[in-house]
Amino acid sequence: MDYKAQVTNSILSVLNDELSSAEVYEKLEKPKTLAMGDLAFPAFTLAKVFHKAPNAIAEELVAKIDQSSYEKVEAKGAYINFFLDKGTFSNEILNEVLEEDSTYGQNDNGKGGNVPIDMSSPNIAKPISMGHLRSTVIGNSIAKLLVKNGYHPIKDNHLGDWGTQFGKLIVAYKKWGNEEDVKKDPINNLVKYYVKFHKEDKAHPELDDEARETFKKLEDGNKEEVFLWKWFRKVSLESFNKIYKKLGVSFDTYNGEAFYNDKMDEGIQILKDKGLLVESQGAQVVKLDKYNLNPALILKSDGATLYITRDIATAIYRDRTYKPAMNLYVVGAEQTYYFKQLKAVLLEMGLPSAENLHHIPFGLITVNGKKLSTRSGRIILLDKVLDDAIDLAKKQIEAKNPDLPNKDEVANEVGVGAIIFGDLKNERTNNIDFVLEDQLRFEGETGPYVQYSHARAESILRKAGDIDLHSADKQLDDPTAWETITALKDFPAVVESACKDFEPSEVAKYSLRLAKAFNKYYAHSKILVEDDQLAARLSLVKAVSIVLKESLNLLGVKAPDAM
Ligand code: ARG
Repeated sequence: MDYKAQVTNSILSVLNDELSSAEVYEKLEKPKTLAMGDLAFPAFTLAKVFHKAPNAIAEELVAKIDQSSYEKVEAKGAYINFFLDKGTFSNEILNEVLEEDSTYGQNDNGKGGNVPIDMSSPNIAKPISMGHLRSTVIGNSIAKLLVKNGYHPIKDNHLGDWGTQFGKLIVAYKKWGNEEDVKKDPINNLVKYYVKFHKEDKAHPELDDEARETFKKLEDGNKEEVFLWKWFRKVSLESFNKIYKKLGVSFDTYNGEAFYNDKMDEGIQILKDKGLLVESQGAQVVKLDKYNLNPALILKSDGATLYITRDIATAIYRDRTYKPAMNLYVVGAEQTYYFKQLKAVLLEMGLPSAENLHHIPFGLITVNGKKLSTRSGRIILLDKVLDDAIDLAKKQIEAKNPDLPNKDEVANEVGVGAIIFGDLKNERTNNIDFVLEDQLRFEGETGPYVQYSHARAESILRKAGDIDLHSADKQLDDPTAWETITALKDFPAVVESACKDFEPSEVAKYSLRLAKAFNKYYAHSKILVEDDQLAARLSLVKAVSIVLKESLNLLGVKAPDAM
């Protein structure tokens, strides 16, 4: 229901074509507080036309407007404030939410367009970092937002599984490694070998030659090297998958850098054909002066390819396979300059989807003030953060609701949800410090608070028992319900805006707003009393439950019915 259109028509009905319908619609503002109404029209936009003071214009127009479908319409200074009729409005909005259920807020802006999302993308044989975790949860939420906006996302985990470092790793493993250790604790041991290689090669530079030859063998498909590389990749992925599973995130494809190893020639050929590849100190670069960027190094002087060479192949592949409406890369802010270069190169190549390439950067994350670097063995830490969160959630549930039958399941949903929500409630480019205890509180701006509000709504509905809400009249004129009603009304706009901005925090902030409004309502009014508005109040509770659950779902957070 478009109440903005209703107000637009009211204004137009008292004008003589001084403004078009679109102009009026655009000028309508949302007042800062509900005491100033639900929508306001700034009369000073007509001052020039009418040659009158805005306040006078506001008063004259108000006198002419048919107010029968509003609670009231009043002139306040230079504004005309519209107060929607609460009964009518709540009836409409609650009917809409209950009818549409989890599809409330769905739109078709994307028209089914494909959107590959490059997300998570950790490097094999290395611990997954907090940055990769952020990419995973932000990417997952954006994928859900895309679906809600009518797009078809393809979540692609662009693993860092190729490059000269694998030559080093294979050499190191053959010299100092053993199978049992890798099987027991793959990432920590692989990192150990890699670190040892870098210590040893200072005194023994011949190791580097050996590594180069080994990588060459790998590139050429030599059996032993390929076998080891595949094994390292497999055990790394198994350890990443444990974390993905805990987070409840899955991928559509795992086309890592290695997947593009045999697909790089085409991109290089296009660059050559277009005369874009030029020599610079023996290496091949693309000049990007036009974009105010440094040249992009595409091939080293020995002909070796680089990260960007593989990304060019990746972009061509995605372009051809998906004909993407947009091309998204959820990668840390430290690669911002790199993605500017990549986009510029692709634009120069004339790749159709280059225009719609979006790097979606995010800030750094620290846990309890400590930076998690990728150096050594930190994968345990990340896994441990999740486990600690689950333990803490379990303790809270044990204290609050000891009789809950599925305590472990709920502790999982609350603990993991707290971490995801704690990340996503921040504007993604902010740096954030994570204090676990804070994120797990049931009060304040936390995931558990929103989950708890949803569970509270569900508990009220359980107590109410079987009442047919669908055909019931849902007119609520209780002013304490109004904040909740208007929050429900705003959900579709939030879904749209969060997707446009690639900003899950808009949904997280919205869910906090709705939860707060609902809890205030709950504190101020008796819901379960037998009177003629009982069904209307329960409809409100049901609508809140639906929209809170869907908001959490868009963030990748579960909404237990009891906790
Ligand atoms: N593996 C890279 C890293 O950990 C991220 C890859 C991002 N995606 C891409 N297409 N470049 O830094």
